[in-house]
Formats: sequence, structure tokens, C-alpha cells
Amino acid sequence: MIPQPFIHDLLNRVDIVDAIDRHVPLKKAGANFVACCPFHSEKTPSFTVSQAKQFYHCFGCGAHGNAIGFLIEYSGLSFVEAVNDLAAYAGMQVPVQQADASFKETGADYLSQYPAEGYNNNHLEISPQDLLSVMQIATRFYREQLKVSEKAIAYLKKRGLSGKTAARFAIGYAPAGWQNLEAVFAEYKSEETRKLLVKAGLVILTDEGKQYDRFRDRIMFPILNQKGQIIGFGGRVLEQEEPKYLNSPETILFEKGRELYNFFSARRAIREADCVVVVEGYMDVIALSQHGIDYAVAALGTATTSFHIQKLLRQTDNIIFCFDGDKAGRKAAWRALGNSLALLSDGKYLSFLFLPEGEDPDSYVSQYGKESFERQLKQATPLSEFLFKELCSGVNLQTSEGRAKLVSDAKPLLQQVKASALSLILLKRLVELSGIGRGELEELLQIKRSPKARLMESAPRKQPVTPYHWLILMLLYSPSYINELDRSLLVGCNGDNEEIEVLRVLVDFLDAHPNLIESNLGSSILTYLHDSPHRALLESIESEALEWSNVTDLEAEFMGSLEKLQQVQRKKRMTELHSKSLDVLTDEEKRELQRLAML
Ligand code: UTP
Ligand code: MN
Repeated sequence: MIPQPFIHDLLNRVDIVDAIDRHVPLKKAGANFVACCPFHSEKTPSFTVSQAKQFYHCFGCGAHGNAIGFLIEYSGLSFVEAVNDLAAYAGMQVPVQQADASFKETGADYLSQYPAEGYNNNHLEISPQDLLSVMQIATRFYREQLKVSEKAIAYLKKRGLSGKTAARFAIGYAPAGWQNLEAVFAEYKSEETRKLLVKAGLVILTDEGKQYDRFRDRIMFPILNQKGQIIGFGGRVLEQEEPKYLNSPETILFEKGRELYNFFSARRAIREADCVVVVEGYMDVIALSQHGIDYAVAALGTATTSFHIQKLLRQTDNIIFCFDGDKAGRKAAWRALGNSLALLSDGKYLSFLFLPEGEDPDSYVSQYGKESFERQLKQATPLSEFLFKELCSGVNLQTSEGRAKLVSDAKPLLQQVKASALSLILLKRLVELSGIGRGELEELLQIKRSPKARLMESAPRKQPVTPYHWLILMLLYSPSYINELDRSLLVGCNGDNEEIEVLRVLVDFLDAHPNLIESNLGSSILTYLHDSPHRALLESIESEALEWSNVTDLEAEFMGSLEKLQQVQRKKRMTELHSKSLDVLTDEEKRELQRLAML
């Protein structure tokens, strides 16, 4: 654990411009620095760094954070590693501290995503670090076992895998037998080790207290996270048995809906090829890589989630889903499509490739080679085409009922699309297919883009609209304004609006941390609100400060916002008083009404 005040000092000592410029050369542009965004591909720079407030923000993909966050995202470091890296750069010594509750409360603990679980009877806490080393030891063991198992080697050879490929993917073999890990881990029977192995998903504990190895007589595929750490395994049988693949259970390290097989190793190739292929299986990824296609990833026995898609869209604008041509493959593709629609912006390109019946990427590339597979990729079906093809299948467009069904099936899908050009294209296609006019269809589908989405798209972006929005922006930019904020103005604001809620959170936070206000003038307050459920809104509001010019009169804006809030409150109170009939109003209330009316 690193003490919070140290992180605070570190962020004040390091200049984010230098810290980022070491990795991504920055250019001065007005008050800020810019570059082409390292988190998504683009030709004109929308990645912006504020030296004044020490944060970065990409207007293209929304990436946002401080110097530590940058290293985590860009270099794939853990929080602790990023702090160490920055400290070394700044010539500072990182102190260590025992974990305690007050530290967690500050909200800047990136590791809190791995809740440490305490145990009865002892003070042992299982940390992600402990589990990671368990996984590493197991991987080493499985790899050694592969070297000495003729049967497993023969199987991989039969499937056309070279020794080099097997080594690159750290493939191993879990031997047959129920207790092989006993010899691998010291004190296997001790309570600590047993808990560790169970939590890591390597050992199963029966109700009678017996423990045995989860993976037996299987080819083992280690699964890495975004930082290259081993967090789970997929294990395949050698013969025709069920289940064909056994995967690690979800653990504190491994969340299937967020991880993609081969993502860590493929990142560079994805950026270079400017596309990623999403396939169904481990063996597909591996065979493609052996044939020189390194930009493939696979979901891990789950559907493609929107997390997956978000992750991939940060690396490239071009995702090709390559699923089996059978019914299951089309269904998987349809789910992937459903999870993507809301995430698409114009310029992102999703397509679907269905291989001939009976083929998967593994068998296809092994038989026809790299060039042929890449030709297929180029001919993949664009999202809009796949969408309507599926919607129209089984619908008779010659009948009114069929066309009505098409429109009602299309409705929930089209409503999700926020990308304006794509949305228009899909709408036009639906006009053609349904024979309903565009205006009527728009009304029927209730496609009206939200004011918020419009605000975010229009460039240059508009000034903040509500006084709450302004106050949040001011407090983020200059927390000391909190001293001038009249709290009574927040009383009675109903929390039906996220901005009010966020303003309250911010005010509460600043009230609880008065020393931050004085000393934090140099860096982003969002560092401390990292875990807030309102983080997205906070980040989006903070990014608006990047567009402030030197002539923006902050003091005047602040006073203006307060005045508006006063007006809002006055109007509310007047309405309240007016709603009572005159004879129930007390004299005092009457005087109040008079006074309010005169203001
Ligand atoms: P496939 O059956 O298509 O696997 O399942 P594959 O990679 O082509 O396997 P080979 O070629 O027969 O060795 C696709 C993916 O679905 C998950 C695995 O992640 C697998 O890679 N799966 C499949 C399971 O989790 N469990 C299973 O029993 C089967
Ligand atoms: Mn296969």
C-alpha cells in the first residue's frame, strides 16, 4: 500500500506533460498540448493534455486521467508499478504503509477493484499478488509437464502446432491424476495454501474437505490480462470427452466478460494492422498467429460483451467478427452486434465474416493460408448489411404484417445507435425495406438524438448549460471556490438530475478533505474520485476546462452561476407559496412572498 499523501506529492512534483511526452511526443496548442491519441487510431490530434490541471483527455475516445492513469493505460502497468515508475523519474522514494480503512476512503485506490478478503481464525489476506504468483507457478509446472508428455506433444503436433507457437502461447499440459499440484506447492495441505489454490481456481474443495486438481489430463492455455499477467486457464481434453474445454472459474483476477484471449500480445499487431479479428476459440487465435496473423483475439467461453468491444475500439476503428458459419456462429455474431450498437461512432467499422460451413479460422488458415484468409477478411459483411439480412430473414416483406414486424424488430436496435451518419444510413435502408416514409418512421421509432449526445458531438463544444454544470466545472478546476459556495443554495434541489447529484458528491468530498483544497491547486481533483459512479460525467465536465481561453473570467462565471441558482430557488419558493391559498399564508410568508417578488 502506498500512502495517499505520497501519491498527492508525486502528482504535484511530476509534470504530466513530461511524463506523457516521454512516450507520446506532444505539441503545444494554445494553452494545452496535443497529440494523436495513443488509445485509439486517428489522423488528427484530439488527445489533449492540460498542464495547468495535470490531466489528459481525448475528445475522440474519451480516455481521461492523470499521469499515473496514463502509465497504467498506456504501458499496461499496475497502479503500484506506475507509481514506482513515476517516482523513479522524479527522484522520489516510495514509502510503504499497511492497508487501513482511511486510505480506502480517499477513493484513489486503483487496487480496490480486487477486494481483499479477510479470513476467520487468522489474519491472512489473499492479495491479487499472491494469486498471480500461484498462477505463475502453475503455468511453469504445466509447461514442464508438456515437455515430458509424449501424448500431449503428439496431440499438438497432430493439430499442426509448432514448438515455437506452443512456447509463445505458454501452452502446457496438466497430467492425469487428482493430486498433481500437491508436489508443486509447498505446504499444500495448510489452510493458507489451500485457500489460495481454491481462490485461484486450480483446486476444488469438496464438502467433505477433500481437495483435488481442477485440471486433469488437459492441454493448458494460460490466459493473460491486459498487463500480461496470467489470470486463468483454458484446458482442452485430448480425446473426445466432455466438456471439451474447461475454463478457470471467475476469480478476483479473472472476470470473463472483461478479458479477451491474446489481447495482451495482439495489441501491437492490432495497431499496426489497424484492425482486429474476433474469433471463437483458443485454437483459432493460435493457428492464425502461427500463420502470421497476430491481430486475433477470442472471448473466453462467453458472448462478446460491450466491455470487450470498448476495449477493442480503443485500439482500432475496425473490428471483424469471424465466427463459424453455423447457427451458433450466427447467433454469437448477432449478440456481438447487439452489444456494439450503442458504442459505435461514425468512423468505426464493424463487419462479420462467416466461413464456409464446417470451417473455423483454424482449419481455414491451415488449409488455405494467410493470404486467402486475409482476402476473406476484406470481404466481410458490413454491420448494416448483416443487421438487415438477419432482420429480414424469415419475414415476408410482401405483406404489411411482415413489414410491420421488420420495423418493430428494428426499433430497439436502431434506437441504440448514437453515431449520426450510421443512424441515418440504417434509417434510409429501413425506409426502402418497409415502404414507410422517413418522417413517419422517425416518429414511429422515436429516434431523436438526445440533447446530451448532440452537445458532445457538435464542435466546438457548447458552453455548459446549467448552473450546476458550471459549479462542478469551477470546483474541479479551482477547488478553493468551495469557500464561496453558499450551501443553502443546494438545499431543496431534488436529486432527479445527475448534475445536482454530482455537485453534492463534490461538495461533500471537498468538505471532508479541507487540506486538499489548499494544496491541490496544481492537479486534478478527479484523482481522488476515481471510483465514483459519476466518474464519466465528472471526466466529461472536467475536459471542458481544456477549451477555456485566457479571457474566461472565472470569478464572473462563478458568481453568475450562484446568481442563477438563487433565481432557481426563488422561483421554486414563490411557486410553493403561490400554491397555497392566501388565507393560509402566515404574515411572515406574505412578507416573504412580497420580498421575493421584488427581487
Ligand atoms: P470451439 O468448440 O469452436 O473450440 O469452441 P475450438 O477452439 O475450435 O476448439 P478445437 O479446435 O476443437 O480445439 C470455441 C470456444 O468456446 C469455448 C472455448 O473458449 C473455445 O475456445 N468452449 C468450447 C468452452 O468454454 N467449453 C467447451 O466445452 C467448448
Ligand atoms: Mn476448432
